[in-house]
Amino acid sequence: MNQRARLDPAPIPFIDVVAQRRRLGRSVDEAIARVLGHCQFILGPEVRALEAELAAFCGARHAVSCASGTDALVLVLMAKGLGPGDAVICPSFTFTATAEVVALVGATPVFADVEAASFNLDPESLRRACATARQVGLRPRAVIPVDLFGQPADYDRIGAVAEAEGLLVLDDAAQGFGATYKNRRIGALAPATATSFFPAKPLGCYGDGGAVLTDDEELAQVMRSIRVHGEGRDKYDCVRIGLNGRLDTIQAAVLIEKLKIFPEEMVARDRIARRYSAGLADVATVPKLAPGSTSVWAQYTIRLAPGRRDGLAAALKAQGIPTAIYYPTPLHRQEPYRSFPVAEGGAPVSERLAEEVISLPMHAYLDEATQDRIIAAVRGALGG
Ligand SMILES: Cc1ncc(COP(=O)(O)O)c(C=O)c1O
Repeated sequence: MNQRARLDPAPIPFIDVVAQRRRLGRSVDEAIARVLGHCQFILGPEVRALEAELAAFCGARHAVSCASGTDALVLVLMAKGLGPGDAVICPSFTFTATAEVVALVGATPVFADVEAASFNLDPESLRRACATARQVGLRPRAVIPVDLFGQPADYDRIGAVAEAEGLLVLDDAAQGFGATYKNRRIGALAPATATSFFPAKPLGCYGDGGAVLTDDEELAQVMRSIRVHGEGRDKYDCVRIGLNGRLDTIQAAVLIEKLKIFPEEMVARDRIARRYSAGLADVATVPKLAPGSTSVWAQYTIRLAPGRRDGLAAALKAQGIPTAIYYPTPLHRQEPYRSFPVAEGGAPVSERLAEEVISLPMHAYLDEATQDRIIAAVRGALGG
C-alpha cells in the first residue's frame, strides 16, 4: 500500500447497490435462474405474482406493472384520455419526468409551487394554478403531486382542492413507494399512483421498471391493454392506441426477492435519517416529516444558506464523500418547459430550494461509523 492510499479514507458510495446485492446473495441468482428455466420472459408468472404482492403491500386492489416510472405516469394519463386543451398541474420542484409525461400526451403542464418544509406541492399554489389554467383557456383535469425525496405529499389538503376543482389526483410516487400518510401506505392515497423501480430507488430492480397502483378496476383493465399496444381480446385485436410498456419477467423476479427485505431496509433508512438529523440540526436545515407521515428517504436532503453549498460539496468530495443536487433548476426554468404556464404568484419556493438543497449519501447499508464520518465532515465544512 502506498502512502497516499493509507492516508485517504475509502470513498463512500452515494447509494450502495453492491452491499444490497451481497445481502441478497443467491436468492436473486436463483430467482433469475428460474426465469431462465421457464423462458417466459414477457409477462411470465413472476409478473403476475409481483403485481399481487405490490397491491397487497400497499393496500390497493390492483397493481399494473410496466416498463418504467415514466411509463406508469403515461399509462394513467393515456387511460384517462388526457390530451390537447387539458391542464395537468405539476410541482415545479421535481424530476423532469413528472411534467414530461403531460407534454408527451399532448396536454399542458401548469406549474405550481412547493412548500419549503416538505419539498412537496403547495395546495394553495395548486388552487392558483387551476385559475391560471382557466385564464389561458385550458381545462384543469388532473394534478400530479410528487412524494419528493420519499415523503408523501399532503393528500388531505390536495384532495380537498382536487375535489373542488374536479381534478384526477395522480400520485407520482417514484421516490415514495413504501412511505405512509396517516397510517395509509402510498399506493392507497390517490385514485392512481405511479412508482418507479429504477435501481437507485428505495425499491429498485436491476434495470428499468415501474407500476401503477389503483382501486379502480376499469382503469387497471385499460392500462393492461395500453401496456401491450392497446390489445383487446388478444394480441392481434387492437382496441386503442397503446405502447410497449411491459415489465420484464426477470425484473419482476428480482423485485419479488427485494420486496422481502424492503420492510427491514425502510427501518434502516429511517434510523440513518434520524442519526443524520440529530448530528446536523444545529449546522443546517434538516428535513422535517409532517406529523402522521413517514418517509422512505429516497434522498436525505439538507438546506444551506445560499452560497454555502459549493464549498460543502467540494470539502466532502475531497474526503471521498459524494453529494448530489436534486434539483439545481426548477422545471418552469428548464428550456423545454419555459413556455408553459406557472401559477399566479410564480414558484419562488422552488427557485429558492434549487439554490439551497444538497443531498447526502443514503442507503440501508450505511453503517454508523461511515455515517459518523459524513456527519463530522459536514460539521467540519460548515464550521459546526
Ligand atoms: C419524481 C420522479 N418521477 C418520475 C420518475 C421516472 O421514473 P423512471 O426513471 O423509472 O422512468 C422519477 C425517476 O427518477 C422521479 O424521480
